Amino acid sequence: MTPSRSTRGIILAGGAGTRLHPLTQIVCKQLLPVYDKPMIYYPLSTLMLGGIREVLIISTPKDLPQFRNLFGDGSHLGLQIEYAEQAEPNGIAQAFLIGEGFLDGSGATLILGDNIFYGKLGFFREALELKTGACVFGAHVRDPERFGVVEFNTAGKALSIEEKPKQPKSSFAVPGLYVYDETVVERTKALQPSGRGELEITDLNVAYLNDGKLDVRVLGRGVAWLDTGTPESLLEAGNYIGTIERQQNLKVACIEEIAHHMGFIDNAGMENLIASTRNPDYRAYLENVMRHG
Ligand code: G1P
Repeated sequence: MTPSRSTRGIILAGGAGTRLHPLTQIVCKQLLPVYDKPMIYYPLSTLMLGGIREVLIISTPKDLPQFRNLFGDGSHLGLQIEYAEQAEPNGIAQAFLIGEGFLDGSGATLILGDNIFYGKLGFFREALELKTGACVFGAHVRDPERFGVVEFNTAGKALSIEEKPKQPKSSFAVPGLYVYDETVVERTKALQPSGRGELEITDLNVAYLNDGKLDVRVLGRGVAWLDTGTPESLLEAGNYIGTIERQQNLKVACIEEIAHHMGFIDNAGMENLIASTRNPDYRAYLENVMRHG
């Protein structure tokens, strides 16, 4: 399956992970474990399940080499993975300026390297079908003031989006998964840095909204968006994934399984992955899903 419109994926894995210090003193946040895998496996698997095979990973000059060590060029997974540095933390939207060459005029799907989605991903696949404009989502949360917040009218149309408002106009946060058409680079170039000196993703979304080109869709109850920003939420996310994996005896965000399931690699490719897997339990799991699907 490939997305119907041309889109390339960007994973932004930057930031200092300050709220997770001292955990993040040496290892960056997006490489911390979430149950049995590095955190970035989860957003990568979301892109893969959307049919996206061309991926740019953006991180800090210090952390980028570790991502390169982890995934290489991605060909073992049937992917094309490229890497780029974000030298300074100049905002999420800067990803489109850094990624301009990689995007090469196509649309862009951005996922933040610390965002975990679990459940039916139909909402994402439908967003990838959109021909023009942008699509972002709204997720009901307890603490909207920590996020971008979307306000809806009674007809469910988005009226405003505000970044970390002190007085949120709704309980719907905008998760870090954004689908944009090919005008994204041009629109980002027109943005002004915010008060904190960053190119804000919320300002980009507002630019689309003001042009009547932003679709905001509420995530249904069948989709879990997990936060990993604090020690408590990181532990809870790990426990959540662990509970599901043990109960179902199926892995979440197993990128090898997904590559095979999506047809990005054939049985021979899967066998190569199995042969290079050192953990005997993980290897047995891959052997099983290859045989029984
Ligand atoms: C960023 C965005 C925010 C969004 C959030 C999702 O915030 O600025 O709009 O709701 O990601 O994870 P950050 O996590 O960088 O504070």
